[in-house]
Amino acid sequence: MESSDDTEEPPLPLALSSFQVSEEFGFLLPDPLTELPAPYGPWMDLAHELPQLITSHQLRSRVHQMPQLSTQHLQGREELHLAHLVLSFITMGYVWQEGEEGTVQVLPRNLAVPYWEVSQALGLPPILSHADFVLANWRRKDPNGNLDTIITLPGGESLRGFILVTLLVEKAAVPGIKVGTALCWEQLVLHAAAHLTVLGLPSTSDLTHLFLLDYVDPEVFYSVIRIFLSGWKDNPAMPHGLIYEGVSPEPLAFSGGSAAQSTVLHAFDELLGICHRQDTAAFLHRMRDYMPRPHRAFVQELRGAVSLRQHVLSSGDARLRAAFNRCVGALTDFRSLHIAIVTKYIAIAAARARARRAQPSARAGPSAGKPPAALEGKGTGGSHIFSFLKSIRDTTREGMISA
Ligand code: HEM
Repeated sequence: MESSDDTEEPPLPLALSSFQVSEEFGFLLPDPLTELPAPYGPWMDLAHELPQLITSHQLRSRVHQMPQLSTQHLQGREELHLAHLVLSFITMGYVWQEGEEGTVQVLPRNLAVPYWEVSQALGLPPILSHADFVLANWRRKDPNGNLDTIITLPGGESLRGFILVTLLVEKAAVPGIKVGTALCWEQLVLHAAAHLTVLGLPSTSDLTHLFLLDYVDPEVFYSVIRIFLSGWKDNPAMPHGLIYEGVSPEPLAFSGGSAAQSTVLHAFDELLGICHRQDTAAFLHRMRDYMPRPHRAFVQELRGAVSLRQHVLSSGDARLRAAFNRCVGALTDFRSLHIAIVTKYIAIAAARARARRAQPSARAGPSAGKPPAALEGKGTGGSHIFSFLKSIRDTTREGMISA
């Protein structure tokens, strides 16, 4: 967080609604639409059939038969977000249908042009991002509040679990975001002292528990799901990027979907004044380009706020310091747990996949369950996974204020 003038008043409270942040759902899109208006039937039909079309290798030919639809009938934020979600999932399926060895160089015009227009309208890149995958991809399954995804890809229950667990973390963060932006700094840290979980990050055991319940099978995650989140930037499987036909004659490069694009952790980092090392900070800042425009502005606003850290330091108040450190500790714990999760779902799963790849019977393509090799050491967002995640965790811990 940038240091600022001590005499300035903190710009709190922030009006969440002016940044399209919901009091109830935080950065999640409240009550997303599940169907587009009738003229967009051809998109919805494909989107609802994606897992089958991909596993039967038919999606590309179905996309080629699709009419090029005008985006002019799309109205309002909800329709635009659903259109972006649908076109993102179709695009990921189209590009990765045949696995990392059968990628394409061109996204056809009938998909690329409307996708580009919807992306421009929302200020999102034309690739699947956290905003599509999680924030706009949920619906109530029944009156008891059980949740489901709207659009899916191969990966069955594991994919559903992966999306919904991430969604629960977004939801769990809402009280922390509200407290962090509604109170003046002094109240904020005192509140933190009273509530260990004020940051809204679920306790480490809760999150571990969710994963240990095996909502997400590591092998399915690694071998089937992950490739569909991969982008065409910093990815050896698509070193030249992707030509969006009718949009640009030159290939464009975009990072894949990653929770590094979630506004939650960026907001907490800014609130607590965590300073990451230059290379990791550069990656994280790039991920902000993949957030909905108003959420990006929200983080920017927090960045410009008077430093909470500075306030605690200059108060000399031991209670404030302890409360502040407790918040930093919760964030560090979350990041340590996340490293353990990534070890299970990527490092260990990759070792098992290598062993399987060595077997002569291994077939190609994600639908055949043959795991991709190009992204073994990289995240879907394109980071060098463990050095990146450990660096971020360590600099978070260094954000503690010593007595
Ligand atoms: C199967 C489970 C998961 C795996 C394998 C995983 C993997 C990764 C990887 C590889 C990165 C590095 C960035 C990149 O290149 O993409 C990352 C970053 C990140 N992930 Fe996850 N992730 C998982 C679940 C979650 C969940 C449930 C959350 C909760 C919101 C989450 C939040 C984050 C955040 C916030 C970052 C940015 C780094 C940070 O701020 O600490 N991840 N993840």
